[in-house]
Amino acid sequence: MFLTHLECTSCGLRHECVRLQNVCTACGKPLFAIVDLAAAGRALNREKLSSREKSLWRYCELLPLPKNAEPISLGEGGTPLLRAKKFADGLDVWIKDEAQNPTQSFKARGMSVAVSMAKHLGAKKLAVPSAGNAGGALAAYAARAGLEAHIFMPRDTPRANVIECRELGAHVDLIDGLITDCGAEIARRKDTEGWFDMSTLKEPYRIEGKKTLGYELAEQLNWKLPDVILYPTGGGTGLIGMWKSFDEMEALSWIDKNRPRMFSVQASGCAPIVRAFETGEKFATEFPNAHTRASGLRVPKAIGDFLILEILRESNGGAVAVGDEEMIHTTREVGSKEGLFVSPEGAACFAALKSLRSAGKIDIDERIVIFNTGSGIKYLDCFNDS
Ligand SMILES: Cc1ncc(COP(=O)(O)O)c(C=O)c1O
Ligand SMILES: [Zn+2]
Repeated sequence: MFLTHLECTSCGLRHECVRLQNVCTACGKPLFAIVDLAAAGRALNREKLSSREKSLWRYCELLPLPKNAEPISLGEGGTPLLRAKKFADGLDVWIKDEAQNPTQSFKARGMSVAVSMAKHLGAKKLAVPSAGNAGGALAAYAARAGLEAHIFMPRDTPRANVIECRELGAHVDLIDGLITDCGAEIARRKDTEGWFDMSTLKEPYRIEGKKTLGYELAEQLNWKLPDVILYPTGGGTGLIGMWKSFDEMEALSWIDKNRPRMFSVQASGCAPIVRAFETGEKFATEFPNAHTRASGLRVPKAIGDFLILEILRESNGGAVAVGDEEMIHTTREVGSKEGLFVSPEGAACFAALKSLRSAGKIDIDERIVIFNTGSGIKYLDCFNDS
């Protein structure tokens, strides 16, 4: 609502925000939406929030949609932050349960804001490459907005995601390849087809929806951030969005300068960020033969890799890889101990907690937040019947 302009995350070039934009026109890197925080802070304070609706639109002054435009909403955000009971083993662990969003994943946050902006700026046809959950979310919000959705997914995407997209009225194409191949197909065809590309970080507003993860977390913890955050990282929008929200909240004087140590959790079969973190690289090279059943983590190359790596290093956090077998096994442990049927991506974070703890990287008195980014119900093909 107090959006002033878009700014390149790499070269700093300023772009106008009055038309549809993808990446930086000079260097091709992601753009950030810049909000006039001084003005937003005069219109909204922490106390005002207590009487507002539960959805992420409670932070509307900090979101890019103008006041006179109608949000495309299905009730996203406002998810519970649950104290882990038995899994935590004496630690102060909390679970942000993003499976309770519309379309059962945190992708709803980004798509609600991005589809609202795309519609406001005149887009008619939206296209996205997806590991599954982003496709489902785009299909739902596009339907709600009366826009066309064109979704490109790898052929081995979980069946539930494919069916969901079709039942929500989207055009679905299954591609023999990875999410990067799906993105390339959209890039090839978007101009002739008239599609607006909604790919992660190739569009500036999904991250604005995702940053509400950080606002909610702070609000739910009474404006004191945890010591450690574990986040399952594919394209990294949630991690980057949260970090952006921390900077914004500090500028608003809503939080102090203390930041959590941020940990990216990836699958051993597709761990470009883990590898680049360990070798000290600024960018992550494409991970060869990417494979994992956690489809959301099957992202061999992310356009925001340098932003993710900067955050992990600046926060004194790190990156952890988890094998598929352990992920699936941990799903049942979390389910039976906590009452949540988590996605394999979420389960990976629980497994990572154990390995960080045994490596001595987490102290007993620290507060940890795990993001369960989606529901296990979308991944039935990953589980045994017994
Ligand atoms: C359940 C789930 N968790 C995590 C991710 C990775 O998210 P991000 O792209 O924000 O890193 C995805 C992406 O598809 C997902 O579906
Ligand atoms: Zn640039």
